[in-house]
Amino acid sequence: MAIRLGDIAPDFTAVTTEGTVKFHDWIGDNWAVLFSHPKDFTPVCTTELGSLAGLKSEFDKRNVKVIGLSVDPVEDHQRWAADIKETQGNALNFPVIADSDRKVSDLYDMIHPNANDTLTVRSVFVIGPDKKVKLTLTYPASTGRNFAELLRVIDSLQLTAKYSVATPANWAQGEDVIIVPSVSNEDAKKKFPGGWRELKPYLRLVPQPR
Ligand code: BEZ
Repeated sequence: MAIRLGDIAPDFTAVTTEGTVKFHDWIGDNWAVLFSHPKDFTPVCTTELGSLAGLKSEFDKRNVKVIGLSVDPVEDHQRWAADIKETQGNALNFPVIADSDRKVSDLYDMIHPNANDTLTVRSVFVIGPDKKVKLTLTYPASTGRNFAELLRVIDSLQLTAKYSVATPANWAQGEDVIIVPSVSNEDAKKKFPGGWRELKPYLRLVPQPR
């Protein structure tokens, strides 16, 4: 069955480029991004893994651990890593799961047979420290993902977790945020003593909390 927002991310043990990982233990108290790519030694995937490696410090800043996956064996991941470093200028700096037996791909429904019956699609799962799934994304093999957008969503999720705020369309760091509807005006006065801008009773804007 498909994994839905709010579900506990299924736990697993898998072989990766950085040794065996027990997923929930590996996440620990951090946030995590689990993503799949269709195949090693392919062009779009090479750019994606290089791009993610270049953003490692941004994920670290947010306490987010990143782990990749494809159905290729670990020896292929290791040989391909040299190409990623050579062509993208960034060496792999996160583990990549070797899911040759498709155990994790099946657990997370990452193979969509009507798209391709053997390769994983470009899935993304953002998982919180509570091990619950906070975001899912599915891209086709032909479209490389926008990892700046992934960081933007993580910023929004972390603001929601910490401050009971939501973020409006196209929100960017530093812009006003929205007080979630479940917070009453009475509670909002305590949480946001500087006040808010009320465009409608259900649309209350405050400066981004820090
Ligand atoms: C790619 O990464 O370029 C790719 C992988 C699988 C199918 C199509 C494209």
